[in-house]
Amino acid sequence: MAFAKLERDAWSDPAVASAYAELFPAMVRFTVPALLDGVQVGPGTRLLDLACGPGTVTREAHARGAEVTGVDLSRAMLLKARTATPAVRDWIAVRAEKLPFQDGKFEAVASNFGLLHFSDPRRAIAEAFRMLAPGGRVALTIWGADAIGLRLIPEVLESLHLAPPLPPAPGFFAFAEPGALSRTFEENGFDSPSERIVSGAAEIGTAEEYWRMFLEGSARTRAGLLALATEDRERVRAKVFERLSEYRTGSGVRVPVTAVLGTARRSPTGSDQAQNRDTGSDTDSGYTVEN
Ligand SMILES: C[S@@+](CC[C@H](N)C(=O)[O-])C[C@H]1O[C@@H](n2cnc3c(N)ncnc32)[C@H](O)[C@@H]1O
Repeated sequence: MAFAKLERDAWSDPAVASAYAELFPAMVRFTVPALLDGVQVGPGTRLLDLACGPGTVTREAHARGAEVTGVDLSRAMLLKARTATPAVRDWIAVRAEKLPFQDGKFEAVASNFGLLHFSDPRRAIAEAFRMLAPGGRVALTIWGADAIGLRLIPEVLESLHLAPPLPPAPGFFAFAEPGALSRTFEENGFDSPSERIVSGAAEIGTAEEYWRMFLEGSARTRAGLLALATEDRERVRAKVFERLSEYRTGSGVRVPVTAVLGTARRSPTGSDQAQNRDTGSDTDSGYTVEN
């Protein structure tokens, strides 16, 4: 599938992983405490950080005393994560849609802004269910529909009537409509689903850093911007800087961001049925990232 290839090629590029690790945590770290609280992470919790990227969530969970395993399709990202948090030993390069662990291995599964990068987000949720022991919890964040930090570039492209060709993919705000995440959790066997909005602000050094964050350290948006003619990309850049002037502070740029945090639980009685059991562990073992 073209979207899966776009994601894999982008995130596997060490330059993209480096730019993401340098710049993007400013946009995505505001959800981390709520995400970890959502799966009740504390000392000894066996946590799977799904699409862990450079390990922003993993690091915080480790600081809470959890036993964390970070998985991501990008080996380049996992090397960043491992360097940032060397005390965590388990970093596995694998797709979220097909996880190489035995059923029920974890007490908690969390994914910070991973879901809409998966070519099959529903299958990843089914896999999260399979990973959980009875009573285990899942927490996922996705962008809120009014996340200016993420809306800004697509809005500028639209205002300039520029629509770079991109493969069909889950929309940036898929699942953001109230109830959508909860329904998907229930369809995949979870109970007690809940959703709430988490609001924050991305504190970014300069408008140039914001621009580089997307031009160098993202997948879809980067592909779209790179597909533009140079003069069109310059028009987009100028307009993005103009829009950002509204969010300038004394020392940088402060852009509002919101997320939907969805949580759910696997029944404590273990009487439910794991979905997609055929996706299990023995056929695709992934690989551990070594230094
Ligand atoms: C926006 S980043 C989020 C990273 C991290 N959770 C954070 O909070 O910074 C998306 C991550 O999803 C990973 N990814 C994309 N598709 C994936 C898939 N199908 N399975 C596992 N990881 C995937 C990418 O390599 C990238 O690291």
